[in-house]
Amino acid sequence: MQSVKLNNGVEMPLVGLGTFKVRGYEVVHQTLDSALGHGYRSFDTAGVYQNEADIGRALKELLPKHGLSRHDIFITSKLAPRDHGPEAEAGCLRSLEALDCEYLDLYLIHWPGKQGWKSEDPRNPECRQQSWEAMESLYRHGKFRAIGVSNYTVGHLQELLTQCQVKPAVLQVEYHPRLVQSELLAFCSESGFHLQAYSSLGTGCLVTEPKVKGLADSLGKTPAQVLLRWALQQGIGVIPKSTNPERIAQNARLFDFRLAEEDMELLSGLHSDTRYCWDPRAVV
Ligand code: A2P
Repeated sequence: MQSVKLNNGVEMPLVGLGTFKVRGYEVVHQTLDSALGHGYRSFDTAGVYQNEADIGRALKELLPKHGLSRHDIFITSKLAPRDHGPEAEAGCLRSLEALDCEYLDLYLIHWPGKQGWKSEDPRNPECRQQSWEAMESLYRHGKFRAIGVSNYTVGHLQELLTQCQVKPAVLQVEYHPRLVQSELLAFCSESGFHLQAYSSLGTGCLVTEPKVKGLADSLGKTPAQVLLRWALQQGIGVIPKSTNPERIAQNARLFDFRLAEEDMELLSGLHSDTRYCWDPRAVV
């Protein structure tokens, strides 16, 4: 599995397994078993996914089975929006405890606003700063190998850059051909942050898009592979979610083909500013 070197020297696999909505111990165990068997070494979860404890338990069982140890894999989790602000350190420690890990490889602020507060609540910036300071402290203590943010806009990132002592290593956002976030990508690349895409398949909606399907057919690939490859060729990491073993396998087979420039343009031309997930732009 190819990886990217983050701005603090930590190596992160470019393809990871998303686990949003992967719930229940049996499902988690079976999904991670399949992913490890197909070469996945990176797993993305979050406090709000309510599967951290099951993932931690399943990995404890599965790593020896696959001849792996903790340092062979990369675990990402995220601070739940309810824990933003003064409760941030406790929220981070809860993730570590639930995953039963001495350290996590990457920890992200999941959302720029605090749960239960309106987007325009003027206390949101202070909350973000408190959360980031708590994460910086845990980073310095070796509990997180890298820290970053998710669902931040350029404005949120600019604010963070004026306050932080540790620069974010990763920005995780929704990114696919119908939501080509060029400004964010350019800002990340200028600032040295790795952009990682979630919902590369548009929560599954894009695999039936006729142009995507047509291109995939012409290349002898699946629509999902073409969508994921399109992101990788922009230097963007991906974390497709699937619980289906055949799809888990195909979503990792992305390094034996290349999209031509005109194919990249065809996909980017689908941009319509469509979000399948959440829109953080209103959060002050
Ligand atoms: P499933 O878990 O049944 O495979 P996204 O990562 O954009 O949020 O997309 C996730 C959705 O896409 C899930 O519903 C998942 O369903 C589906 N999916 C994942 N991989 C594939 C694939 N290779 N082909 C078709 N659908 C997929």
